[in-house]
Amino acid sequence: MNGQLQRTDEVQLTAAIRVLKQQRQALILAHNYQRKEVQDVADVVGDSLALARAALHTDAKVIVFAGVHFMAETAAILNPDKQVLLPDLQAGCSLADTINADQLRAWKAEHPGAVVVSYVNTQATVKAESDYCCTSANAVAVVSAIPADREVLFLPDMFLGAYVQRVTGRTNMHIWLGECHVHAGIAPTDVHTVLQQHPTAEVLIHPECGCSTSDLYLLADGTLPKERTRVLSTGGMLRHAQESDVEEFVVATEIGILHQLQKQSPEKKFIAANSHAICPFMKEITLEKILTALRENRYVITVPTTIAQQARQAIERMVAVG
Ligand code: 13P
Ligand code: SF4
Repeated sequence: MNGQLQRTDEVQLTAAIRVLKQQRQALILAHNYQRKEVQDVADVVGDSLALARAALHTDAKVIVFAGVHFMAETAAILNPDKQVLLPDLQAGCSLADTINADQLRAWKAEHPGAVVVSYVNTQATVKAESDYCCTSANAVAVVSAIPADREVLFLPDMFLGAYVQRVTGRTNMHIWLGECHVHAGIAPTDVHTVLQQHPTAEVLIHPECGCSTSDLYLLADGTLPKERTRVLSTGGMLRHAQESDVEEFVVATEIGILHQLQKQSPEKKFIAANSHAICPFMKEITLEKILTALRENRYVITVPTTIAQQARQAIERMVAVG
């Protein structure tokens, strides 16, 4: 009964959002980690790179960002003439909070002339101090494009940084010791335990995971099946699962992605490596809050002009690569 009531609420809220969205000429962007009912009401569901690109190419007057603060900030920087709404200001990011602009300036001073590559999970003030931004979908391509003799400062995710360093073989790369508490909580043993129960499954690992770096060693020594393990962004996981002939997948990332994976390939089976990998910031966004955001025009995300101008170049480089 409760489930039925909830479903009725969802249907009504979704219908109300659709009407208001049209009236306001709004576009709803949702990250793959959003609640399933939020993903279902969105115009575009995707990874950080896909959503940044969607924000860049829209004619909508208003962008409602069903994601976290840094994503809405990025959309606002790319669209100074549009209104960008984040339905709840509590939707932050523990990874983005691991470095601020003062800390980055001090780090740059220790490495004069180094090229700064910031993961998109950073505050706008940090992006303003950066040469390039990247996402998990194009981090390897961005770092590879930097001349080999230039030092690189990579921030803030240490697992993604270690992964990029290993793939590129770059020795002149310094990595900030930040982590996302959700992905860091997915341990190599989680992956192995689930894989033992599903021995023919493919393994899809997000490079922010604590398990991603050690899994690369386990891949090398044969503990994990090399031909069936992929390190991918959330968008990359969706593409790969669709193209693969395999029927079962062990998925090491935030579990919101399972909804899109299952929706896209209903005949396949997707198993979370760790069913507790839930981002509390992503889950702050609800249908009620999206409706209120559209009705009351809140919360408008703005970035001071000078910061936005400085950050824009690094973001545009990110959107152009990969
Ligand atoms: P992607 O969706 O770009 O892979 O990023 C994951 C993430 O943690 C976003 O916060
Ligand atoms: Fe930030 Fe981690 Fe949540 Fe992504 S999953 S928004 S990196 S806290």
